[in-house]
Amino acid sequence: MLVRIMQADDVSEASVVHRKSFSRQSSSREWIEANFNAFPKVIPYVAELDGQIAGYILWSQKSGFRPEVVLELEQIAVHPAFRNKGVGKALIEDSLPQVRGQLSLQGSSLKHIIVTTRADNHAQELYRKTLGVEIEAVIKNLYSDDEVFMVSRHLTRHSRNQKSTGTDIINRLYPL
Ligand SMILES: CC(C)(COP(=O)(O)OP(=O)(O)OC[C@H]1O[C@@H](n2cnc3c(N)ncnc32)[C@H](O)[C@@H]1OP(=O)(O)O)[C@@H](O)C(=O)NCCC(=O)NCCS
Repeated sequence: MLVRIMQADDVSEASVVHRKSFSRQSSSREWIEANFNAFPKVIPYVAELDGQIAGYILWSQKSGFRPEVVLELEQIAVHPAFRNKGVGKALIEDSLPQVRGQLSLQGSSLKHIIVTTRADNHAQELYRKTLGVEIEAVIKNLYSDDEVFMVSRHLTRHSRNQKSTGTDIINRLYPL
């Protein structure tokens, strides 16, 4: 499996993954295209498996381009035919070092990672394992139900000594 930056040619297949993954969201093509065109505010990757787009991940820089970036895992989706095979995990683990490289090209480093998901979504477990995020808030009735707000803190180099599960996991999995 190859996790690589999304190219214009991938937009159609990634849109299919979106359509099959989010029944409450519409206009898949427009959504993926808008995110693709938002680079480098949005940094999009795909997982390619046997020549097919098995999934995608959208990372988003929050609140302007900053020297210390608060990065949101905006969206991740794996085609139903490829789920439970480690594609989601690979999308996070293999794209994050590439994101860090991209941020360093703009002279920035990673400060925090945030991710939100529906309270009943099993993706929470995936985020905890791969990013060391912890729940910091539950926002009632946000999109389609209660939404958990998860954060992995203190990821910058100078914060390494601060005690945080997120820091430990991130620095072990994605060394600077
Ligand atoms: C969430 C999603 C991206 C996971 O992708 P995936 O390729 O199936 O995930 P992986 O095979 O890499 O699983 C990694 C971990 O996620 C968790 N996980 C994945 N599927 C799970 C399930 N059905 N139930 C419980 N935990 C699950 C497990 O902790 C798993 O680790 P394990 O294999 O060691 O048990 C995929 O299910 C998906 O596209 N869902 C629809 C879209 C969505 O809800 N996206 C997230 C909200 S933005």
